[in-house]
This record gives sequence, structure tokens and C-alpha cells, in this order.
Amino acid sequence: MDGQPRIGVVGATGAVGRVTLELLRERGHERVRAFASARSAGATLDGLEVEEATPEALSAGDLDVCLFSVGTAASRELVPHAVEGGALVVDKSSAYRLADGVPLVVPEVNGAAARDHAGVVANPNCSSIPLSLVLAPLRDAAGLRRARVATYQSVSGAGSQAMERLRAEPSDGHDLRMDWTFDGVEFDEEEKIRLETRKILGEPGLPISASCVRVPVLVGHAEAVWVETEEPVSPEDAERILGAAPGIELEPFPSPGKAAGGDHALVGRIRRDPADPSALALFLACDNLRKGAALNAIQIVELLLGERDRAAA
Ligand SMILES: NC(=O)c1ccc[n+]([C@@H]2O[C@H](COP(=O)([O-])OP(=O)(O)OC[C@H]3O[C@@H](n4cnc5c(N)ncnc54)[C@H](OP(=O)(O)O)[C@@H]3O)[C@@H](O)[C@H]2O)c1
Repeated sequence: MDGQPRIGVVGATGAVGRVTLELLRERGHERVRAFASARSAGATLDGLEVEEATPEALSAGDLDVCLFSVGTAASRELVPHAVEGGALVVDKSSAYRLADGVPLVVPEVNGAAARDHAGVVANPNCSSIPLSLVLAPLRDAAGLRRARVATYQSVSGAGSQAMERLRAEPSDGHDLRMDWTFDGVEFDEEEKIRLETRKILGEPGLPISASCVRVPVLVGHAEAVWVETEEPVSPEDAERILGAAPGIELEPFPSPGKAAGGDHALVGRIRRDPADPSALALFLACDNLRKGAALNAIQIVELLLGERDRAAA
């Protein structure tokens, strides 16, 4: 590859896409193109002209990397064209996350799995990422028997239109909204957390129960987590283990406000579960648009391109 990679941000006008452009600019990337639907084609975004994400444009062979943050249906349609054009694709929708042969990657947890891609690496759900960051070091230290999680998810997790609705209808800001994107008896979001976290950790049988709500917060997801380990872990040891783990920053009282704009999952309130002496309870908060989406995807690319550059040197 000659100099900087040529990066296409597909879904650039969306909540995740805009943060992706911002992070790429902060990291000094200059060969970036913005793609979205025909609705946005021709608009200017961050000094870039938005191009329509057509199969022809994506398969033309002039992109090294494509960072997709469009809906699942659009990803299913468009990702294969970008792969055909030779781009490394990181897809943030749920289209490929559980597919055989597609790595689902949180670099700090299972970065090595990213190497086994056939053109596409999937980026996990914004709640699965911080949960995996917390469970992986506890698993390494003491084994995992079971995890339970209750999420408090911000509206930006449901995209830019949901953010506009919260801004426009502050009266909605006084209630929980579970009907915006969640669906099913067990919400699809709750199933995603279980299945994705198992895949990321490589623990296919791990019992994980989730209960998700959408809260009237713009950015930043929070999670209350209860973990049963195989070997006993004291809260002090858990704090030491998590404090040394990559991607995590200890914070006595994590909140979406403290996490928003940052790159780490904030973890705190680490304590013995009073109902179960073999279990720990903790609370975390994480910026769902950054580490929960855009940043994690960029880190996957940096990992793979860094390895390729080192191999070529
Ligand atoms: N928000 C989060 O915290 C988060 C976290 C992890 C993963 N994700 C996933 O990331 C994806 C995007 O989420 P978001 O929150 O950024 O949604 P969003 O704000 O609604 O943005 C959607 C983007 O997709 C584009 N798009 C829609 N249909 C398209 C098509 N047929 N062809 C090309 N572009 C199309 C839109 O372009 P127009 O503006 O032209 O319509 C827009 O840029 C979703 O799959 C979501 O599940 C989101």
C-alpha cells in the first residue's frame, strides 16, 4: 500500500459515521471518502462531498478499507461489492456478526481473531464491546461461570433520527423508551449481547442473561453487571485485574456523561454481590459511538494494517 490507506466511510452522514470521520481526522488520515445513500449524495460533510454508496462505486478497486455503518439490510447488499473491489471491510451492523468465517473482534480481547478474515471483520454491538472488555480479564484470572447484565442505553444507539427526536421532544426525556429499536419477547438486543459476547470470548456455552432499556440520554451506554467466577475473586483483586486491563479505566462512579467523548469503558462500583458470596457486581459506562462503534472499528483496521506493514518491512 502506497502511504496512507484509502478509506471509505459508508454511512458517513449517520451517528456512527460522523464520529468515524472525526476520529479519522484526529488520527491524521487524509485519504478519506464519505459515502451514504442517494438521499445525501452531493451534500458536503466535514469538507468532503458525500458520494452515493453504489455497488459500482464500492467495487471500483480504489479503496483499501471500508468502514460500514449502515443498517443491516444495506450492509448485506453493499458489503460484498466493497470486498469484491479488494477493500478490507469492517462492518458495524449485525449482518455478519454471527456468521461463520467472519471474525467478531474487540482488539483488546480477541485481536488475533481478526487475522482470519476473508474480507470482512464484524464490529460487535455497542453493549457487547464493554461487557467483553470486563469479562475477558476476569475469565483469564478466575474463569467464568455466569454473567448477568442490565443495560441503560442512550438514544444515539438507535441512530441520528432517534437523537433528533429526543432533542425535539424533551417531554420524552422523562421516561424509558423500549419501543424504539428493541423487538421480541427477549429483545433482539438482549440476544445479541449473549451470542456476540460468547463469540468474542470464545465461550460458546457461557450463560449470559441481559435485560436492556433505552434511557433518555444522548450519548453513552451504562451497564450493571453481575459476574460469577469459577475461582473466588475479591473485589480488591477484581479492581486490580480490571485496572490493569486494556480498554478499561477505573472510575468510582461511572456515568454516560463521564464516558462520552472518551476512548475507554469506565468501570467502577466493584463489589461483592451481597446475594452471592462467589459473585461480583460492578457498573460500567462507555461511549457507544466511539469505543462501542467507530473507535473499535478503526482499532481493528489499525491492528490489521499495522501487522501487514510490519510484515512488509
Ligand atoms: N449508534 C450506535 O451506537 C451504534 C453502535 C454500534 C453499531 N451501530 C450500527 O451501525 C449502523 C449505523 O448506525 P447509526 O446509529 O450511525 O445509524 P444512522 O444514524 O441512522 O445512520 C445510518 C447511515 O446509513 C446510511 N444509509 C442508510 N441506508 C443506506 C443505503 N441503502 N445505502 C447507503 N447508505 C445508507 C445513512 O445515509 P443517509 O443519511 O443518506 O440516509 C446514514 O449515513 C447500524 O447498523 C447500527 O446497528 C450503531
